[in-house]
Amino acid sequence: MKIKILGAGSIGNHLAQASRRMGWSVVVIDNDPKALERMKNEIYPKRYGSWDASIQLFRAGDEPKGGFDIIAIGTPPDTHLKLALAAIEEEPKLLHIEKPLCTPDLAGVGEFIEAKEKHSRVMVTVGYDHVVSEAMEAVTDLIKKGLFGDILTIDVEFREHWRGFFAAHPWLSGPQDSYLGFWKRGGGAGGEHSHALHLWQYFANVLKWGPIVRAEAMFDMRNEKGALHDQLAIFNLETKKRKIGRVVQDVITLPVRKWARLQGDQGFIEWHCNGVPEGDLIRYQVKESAPVEKIFPKKRPDDFYREVLHYDKLLSGEIPPENSPLSFERGVEIMKILNKTYFQD
Ligand SMILES: NC(=O)c1ccc[n+]([C@@H]2O[C@H](COP(=O)([O-])OP(=O)(O)OC[C@H]3O[C@@H](n4cnc5c(N)ncnc54)[C@H](O)[C@@H]3O)[C@@H](O)[C@H]2O)c1
Repeated sequence: MKIKILGAGSIGNHLAQASRRMGWSVVVIDNDPKALERMKNEIYPKRYGSWDASIQLFRAGDEPKGGFDIIAIGTPPDTHLKLALAAIEEEPKLLHIEKPLCTPDLAGVGEFIEAKEKHSRVMVTVGYDHVVSEAMEAVTDLIKKGLFGDILTIDVEFREHWRGFFAAHPWLSGPQDSYLGFWKRGGGAGGEHSHALHLWQYFANVLKWGPIVRAEAMFDMRNEKGALHDQLAIFNLETKKRKIGRVVQDVITLPVRKWARLQGDQGFIEWHCNGVPEGDLIRYQVKESAPVEKIFPKKRPDDFYREVLHYDKLLSGEIPPENSPLSFERGVEIMKILNKTYFQD
């Protein structure tokens, strides 16, 4: 399998390493030569132990085109769809676009959908990796068994101070140096932590609650050093079947809390991302029985390994594309929620 990754930053490194773990051939492209140097000499060896010399690095413009099974777009959100439009012309079997799919004004979505229809054999996905984790698979199996009775509501939170992010990116002096500081570029709490909206939508789908038809939100906006972004975003959501629930995303919470809870009339289940030092934790209780806790050991690189394993199964036909929670259509729905709520006033 051959993968071409655009962007040698944080996600580019994760996807490259996960692909190498699969034994795939990896090409990485960046338009900034310093980013390519940083990948080879700093990020990759620091994160994964040593540089993998089989990974080929190219400056944008010099890269090979055509013949890739997968092309992954791992650049800032406001560049995704322009690069995806060019990438789909190469007809990979699968085109992965990082989350959030685009900017909240939905610029370029219509044009990309037209291109996607023209190249209908290309599977297009959006990189909401948490949904394909082992712990999430276990939560899904338990919900599907109906263990908790009728699920009454869903809560999801992705609350993470971005101090850790900036400590790991010392070449950035703060949010103002990156798309992260600008909600209009797909940064801020709304875009950066849209994993939470995506998980809520995922559960609603598993529970056959129908599509999200109503979304109301409040954003705590921050304007500092030229950056303008929401540091806290709170969403109330309603589905077609009139089920309601809540999503909270922020870039101010310490320690980190990435969590989901489904409350049923017979019990509850919770997912705690990195809830224990070894990895993810799920907790559940049925009626008055003793609460159960299960640990799913993982490290951060395993999240992306799970994602590429999912791609392997999509490409082998083991998982039909319409069953993938990473589908392009679901990624578009998330952006429509952000579009509606950011621009509501
Ligand atoms: N799924 C996840 O959990 C996860 C984790 C991290 C990042 N991401 C997503 O990945 C995307 C990138 O984030 P990041 O943290 O890796 O950013 P980053 O700034 O670390 O890296 C982005 C890289 O893209 C390069 N780039 C920009 N425009 C380009 C172009 N036109 N052609 C080639 N390269 C270009 C930049 O030079 C930079 O090196 C974002 O959408 C982010 O939300 C997702």
